Amino acid sequence: MVYIMKININKNYLNLKESYLFSDINKKVKAYKELNPNADIIRLGIGDVTRPLPKVISDAMSKASLDMSEKDTFKGYPPEFGYDFLRERIKSYYERYNVSLNLNDIFVSDGAKSDIGNLLDIFGNNTILIPDPVYPVYVDTNIMKNNNVIFINGNKENKFLPLPDDSLENKPYIIYICSPNNPTGAAYNYKELALWVSFAKKTGSLIIYDAAYEAFIQSSDIPHSIYEIEGGKDVAIEVCSFSKFAGFTGIRCGYTVVPSNIEVDGVYLNKLWGRRQSTKFNGVSYITQAGAYACLSDEGILECKKNLSYYMENAKLLKDFFLEKGLWFTGGISSPYIWLECPNGMSSWEFFQFLLEKCNVVGTPGAGFGKNGEGFFRITSFGTHEATKEAIERMKKVL
Ligand code: MLT
Repeated sequence: MVYIMKININKNYLNLKESYLFSDINKKVKAYKELNPNADIIRLGIGDVTRPLPKVISDAMSKASLDMSEKDTFKGYPPEFGYDFLRERIKSYYERYNVSLNLNDIFVSDGAKSDIGNLLDIFGNNTILIPDPVYPVYVDTNIMKNNNVIFINGNKENKFLPLPDDSLENKPYIIYICSPNNPTGAAYNYKELALWVSFAKKTGSLIIYDAAYEAFIQSSDIPHSIYEIEGGKDVAIEVCSFSKFAGFTGIRCGYTVVPSNIEVDGVYLNKLWGRRQSTKFNGVSYITQAGAYACLSDEGILECKKNLSYYMENAKLLKDFFLEKGLWFTGGISSPYIWLECPNGMSSWEFFQFLLEKCNVVGTPGAGFGKNGEGFFRITSFGTHEATKEAIERMKKVL
């Protein structure tokens, strides 16, 4: 029996698509699998890692878990913004790119996705500037808040790297930038990112910079952090994650940098975010932070990079195959994602269905990332070598 209540809900949620992109995909794959129980599905859709954790990380986590069973080393609530041992390591990691951070500007969290959504708690309603195509979380969280979202077009002409131009009003925005980009794999170089920083300065805007894929950068021309750009610390909050770098998609750890010098309405954003976090978040477990700490040791970085190289070998195989087929794509160089134009004028979902049925390969339809994603398709290189090679063999037969 349905029981009807009389309280109010946040009606903005009714403006969202019924389900999240990757839930939609899972439903379609599940339905296909029910009809074809013997289908051997290869999943190159959601960007989930497959390499096991480097031993240096799991050893550190094992040791931390033993600490929890000893009277002298047991830990209760973690410090609300992260253990200093991890914040120090994050700070040193940035020094590799000549970025100097204050410890108090680093907030350890359970991952980039939650921080990206939660950050909106500290802002009123603003006009939001979001590139299209885009990671759906940026859009959906703004719909939940009834913000006015303006899309800037990423397309084949600008190689999916839109830049600020005269069509944008001279007014303050919250701007979302993800580089290397999810879903397109395209990455801004220093000069291009500097254009965004100066646009933000000129308009009094804030950039929310998603650096979740920075560890994949292979070119010295591409910044790892927006703080490498002069003035970046005046205009940007940077969100990053251990998910893809260290294989923490299941463990959950990330961080957000809120520079202490940014002031809005007479309030420091850093203070506001600290207030938000200490009220609504109880920190990340000691065991997880010990793992993240090990990941940022010299050995940890080396081992994590070996896993990234493994994925990039997959990316190369996929890229070579798409090149051979004469398909247009971006990504796959400083990014685990390859963003290709669907063959034969197929729509994104048509190509999704085609690959699912003809090859039992799952990718992500570009249309799920926005209107400009229509006609494009995202394939990840996060699979195993075996699965990636097998997917290519199967695609060879039908493309
Ligand atoms: C993706 O496939 O876009 C990502 O795995 C999603 C995420 O990082 O939340």
